[in-house]
Amino acid sequence: MSEKNRMLTLAAQARDRAYAPYSGFQVGAVLRGGSGRLYAGCNVENAAYPQSQCAEATALGGLIVGGDTRLTEVLILGPGDKPLVPCGGCRQRLLEFATADTPIHLCSESGAHTTLILAALMPHAFGPDSLS
Ligand code: THU
Repeated sequence: MSEKNRMLTLAAQARDRAYAPYSGFQVGAVLRGGSGRLYAGCNVENAAYPQSQCAEATALGGLIVGGDTRLTEVLILGPGDKPLVPCGGCRQRLLEFATADTPIHLCSESGAHTTLILAALMPHAFGPDSLS
């Protein structure tokens, strides 16, 4: 199995466990840490809607607990026909641990997919370098 297919399989497993009773929109995310290890996450919604958490944020928590501090590749998987694009907040979250050329694989349940680098999703970003 290719590395990308491995990420897709893990994302689908995470997506199937998403807790999304309010939106019905289940998302899975997989991050490759600097160590090469993969970390999966799903969205976790809440009856108090603003307390809901995106799949990318769940996966990032795992990456940090796992001892990684950098990420080198991202895959996100959503429902429907169109490749899932990450929300603005998650673009910012990913930027903290990635680089401008980190590949982000955008995937959908239907099989449609595309890959963009982070800089294409988040141009002119405010990140760790902006503080120095
Ligand atoms: N969602 C994610 O998990 N990641 C994104 O990048 C976009 C949106 C989730 C949040 C919410 O649980 C559901 O999708 C609908 O917005």
